Amino acid sequence: MNKSWQTHLFEPKRVLANWGWLALISILLIGCTASPSPIPTATPYTPDSYEGRLLSQGYVLLAANTGEIFADESTMTQQEFGAEKYRQVCMACHGDWGQGLTPEWRAQWGDDGNCWQSHCHASNHPANGFELPQVVPALSKSSDMAGIKNAAELQQVIYETMPWWNPGFVTEEESWAIAAFLMESRGELGLDVTLDASNAQVYQLHTPYQPPQNVYPTVFGVLGLLLVATAVLIKPHHG
Ligand code: HEC
Repeated sequence: MNKSWQTHLFEPKRVLANWGWLALISILLIGCTASPSPIPTATPYTPDSYEGRLLSQGYVLLAANTGEIFADESTMTQQEFGAEKYRQVCMACHGDWGQGLTPEWRAQWGDDGNCWQSHCHASNHPANGFELPQVVPALSKSSDMAGIKNAAELQQVIYETMPWWNPGFVTEEESWAIAAFLMESRGELGLDVTLDASNAQVYQLHTPYQPPQNVYPTVFGVLGLLLVATAVLIKPHHG
């Protein structure tokens, strides 16, 4: 009599094969469906929200406007320190998204938003105000700051000419930190890079960041090839 398929499944010789496949398929299925850690999803922005519009125009959300990182200056990275300084000194003019002084950004300020009519920044400004140019450039898109080539130039512009109303207000250290923060936001610097005068010529604006290549594999590869070539060349000829 033919064995039923159930008996077949448990037949000693076939147990491993039958159940092994079943186990493998189950593991694969579980592996595909249950990912160990949930993949974080970005907060969806509706296209007509403030953020959605800025995002669609190519600006990037700056860490400076989240306010989460401003805990302890002693443990901050250079870029976090730069984000804090940006928020304190630069954001009022250059925007929470680095979008520049757009009407929409000014509107976020409420009553103070009309900089020129409220007289603080018009030509008839009071002594503690200053006249503000009507156009403050955007900084956060990789096409912004078209005239600035590398991190060294960016630091120099910040250190020597900003903030616009009071050049020299930020220290050299702060200007490096703000430059690093801005370039990281624009995707031009790695999170682990600390900018200073010794490396600032290397990091280019308008160019996506490339982590430095490890040269050892190449060096050893070339050395190895040379070794083999030498061995072949000096191999005694049998005649
Ligand atoms: C009072 C408003 C104001 C503040 C505050 C301010 N800026 Fe500016 N910034 C300007 C204006 C206006 C210009 C354009 C100047 C010009 O064209 O001569 C400018 C230009 C720049 C540029 C050159 C942009 C380009 O396209 O070449 C950079 C970089 C910059 N600012 C960074 C900063 C940083 C960093 C801070 C904070 C330390 C800061 N700014 C604070 C008003 C401001």
